[in-house]
Amino acid sequence: MAEPLIDRWIRRQRWMDGFAETIQKVIGWIYGVLGAPGRLLEDLMHGTKVLGHPLHPAITDIPMGAWAVAVVADYAAHFTNRLPTEAGDVALAVALATALLAVLTGYTDFRHTFAHERRVALTHGLIMSAAVTLGVVSMALRWWSGSAIHPLAVGLSTAGLGLLIVGGYFGGHLVFGLGSAVNRNAFAEGSDDFVAVGVASDFAEGTLTRVVAAGMPVLVVRKEGELHAIGAVCSHAGGPLDEGTLNRGVVTCPWHGSRFCITNGKVKHGPATFRQLVFVVREINGNVAVKPEVPLH
Ligand code: FES
Repeated sequence: MAEPLIDRWIRRQRWMDGFAETIQKVIGWIYGVLGAPGRLLEDLMHGTKVLGHPLHPAITDIPMGAWAVAVVADYAAHFTNRLPTEAGDVALAVALATALLAVLTGYTDFRHTFAHERRVALTHGLIMSAAVTLGVVSMALRWWSGSAIHPLAVGLSTAGLGLLIVGGYFGGHLVFGLGSAVNRNAFAEGSDDFVAVGVASDFAEGTLTRVVAAGMPVLVVRKEGELHAIGAVCSHAGGPLDEGTLNRGVVTCPWHGSRFCITNGKVKHGPATFRQLVFVVREINGNVAVKPEVPLH
């Protein structure tokens, strides 16, 4: 089946790659110079900390909804006089205040996108940034024109809402069409029962060993003599955790540096937000078997 027109068009926009890379480097640099607080802030913006789920899609509904209310209130005030003109101003102010968080979380997630996904993310981000710019100018005009409905200000916020809807389409395509930020283990298939994956000597202390249990890639690690197992496919974007590094019971993904505890699969540092699958390990008479800690379905 032919690729959708929108993807074909974006795929041809190679000029985006250098531009996107520069933005990604600047974002990384900003978080880097902030040191430990920067790492915490980055985890908060991804949703790794506190939410345990991507924050950006959870936050974007607020500015979208408030913005739509602002436009409706503006026109209601203008054409019916049943609302004060300030209603639209207040709603737009709420939209812009929360849009700031949407921008921060969005650009933080953007930092770890790649190739076609990155071009679609950049298209989404640029359209949303243009919408926010229109909103800011509209707000400034309202501020300067007092309580009167300023036609140009209303026109700009209306155009901004139109851009938000178009940008929202690209954001939706990014997640639902390309699977960006989707838990890569959400569709894991395998057995809910113990599956033999090797013998004790296959798993030396402190080494990352990949096995396949009924089709599921599993990372097995022996720590202080005890075996632990988590999914070998990084929940963020599918990186191979067995090719990462291990330090004090925490494995670091080789692709974007997410870190996971090998005993409980919890995310220690993003961009991943979803914990890894955890497996119960059984070692009897030198034979090692694993099964998912919780049923897959
Ligand atoms: S694939 Fe991105 S951190 Fe693992």
